Amino acid sequence: MKVTVVGAGAVGATCADNIARKELCNELVLLDIKEGIAEGKAQDMMQTATLLGFDTKIVGSTNDYSKTAGSDVVVITSGLPRKPGMTREELIGVNAGIVKGVCENILKYSPNAIIIVISNPMDTMTYLALQSTRLPKNRIIGMGGTLDSSRFKYQLSQHLGCSPSDLNAVVVGGHGDTTMIPLINKATWNSVPVTQFLSAEQQEKIVKDTMVGGAMLTALIGTSAWYAPGAAGAALVESILRDEKKLFTCCVALDGEYGQKDICLGVPVTIGKNGWEKIIDFGLTADEQAAFDKSAAAVRSMNDVLATL
Ligand code: 2OP
Repeated sequence: MKVTVVGAGAVGATCADNIARKELCNELVLLDIKEGIAEGKAQDMMQTATLLGFDTKIVGSTNDYSKTAGSDVVVITSGLPRKPGMTREELIGVNAGIVKGVCENILKYSPNAIIIVISNPMDTMTYLALQSTRLPKNRIIGMGGTLDSSRFKYQLSQHLGCSPSDLNAVVVGGHGDTTMIPLINKATWNSVPVTQFLSAEQQEKIVKDTMVGGAMLTALIGTSAWYAPGAAGAALVESILRDEKKLFTCCVALDGEYGQKDICLGVPVTIGKNGWEKIIDFGLTADEQAAFDKSAAAVRSMNDVLATL
C-alpha cells in the first residue's frame, strides 16, 4: 500500500510519523512545495526506523508529484495554519488555491486514491476537493469531527476523572469554533450517559471548551495544533487501509442525510477500504437538528466564498 501526505508542516509530518510507526503502508511519500523540507523530515523519520522498529519506506519530495503516483490514500495538510486570534475560515483566501492545485496533481498521478482533507477551513476545503476532482463522494473525507471528538473526550475525561478510552462522544457539524456541535446528551461513559455525572454548568463548559479547543491551543503555542490533528489523520488512514469500518465523525458530502444536501459537513460515518462507507443516523433531537442546520448555513456561506476567489 502507498500513502502520500501533502504538506510537510507540523500536521503533515506528525501524520506521516504516525502512519510510519504503525506500518500502515509499505511506502509513504511526504511532499512539500518548500525546497528540501519534505526530504529532510522524511530522512529524519527514516533515521528513527531502527530505534522504533518499523519498516515503512518514507520518501520526501519537493513538489514532484510523480513520486506520489499510485497512492491508495492521499492526506492533504498543505496551506497556512492559523495564528492566535484567527478563525479557520480566515485562511480560505490563501488555502483554497493551494488545495485546488494539490487536488489537480493528485488526480493526475493517483486517480484511484481516497483523499483525506485536513487543510482549513476544512469543511469548505473538502467541498472544494469534491468539486475539483469530481471523484466519487465516498473517496473524499474531511478530517474535522474525528479531531473534535477526540478533544471532546479529553474535556469529558478531565471532568469525570476517567480514561478518555472509556468514553463514547461525538462532535458533528462544522469544524469551526462556532459551527461544531458536541453531542453531550448522547455521550456515554461505558454505556452510561455522561450527563448523569455532570452538572449543567460542567456540561456547558465541556461543550464550550471543546468548540474552541483548537483556538485555545493556538493561543498557547502560537500556531495551529499538530499532534492530535496528525494522529486523527493517521487514524482515518488506518481504518481505510485495514478496512476497519470504525465509526468516526467526518466531513462528507450530504445528499439529504441529516436534512442537508449539496454540502460537506461532519456526520457519523463508517470508514473502510472504500473510504466513507455509511452515514449513520444518530437521530438528532429538535435542538440538535436546529444547531446542525445553523452550522450548515454557516459552512454554506463559506462555500459560497469559493466562487468569489
Ligand atoms: C485544529 O483544530 C488544525 O483545524 C485543526 O487544530
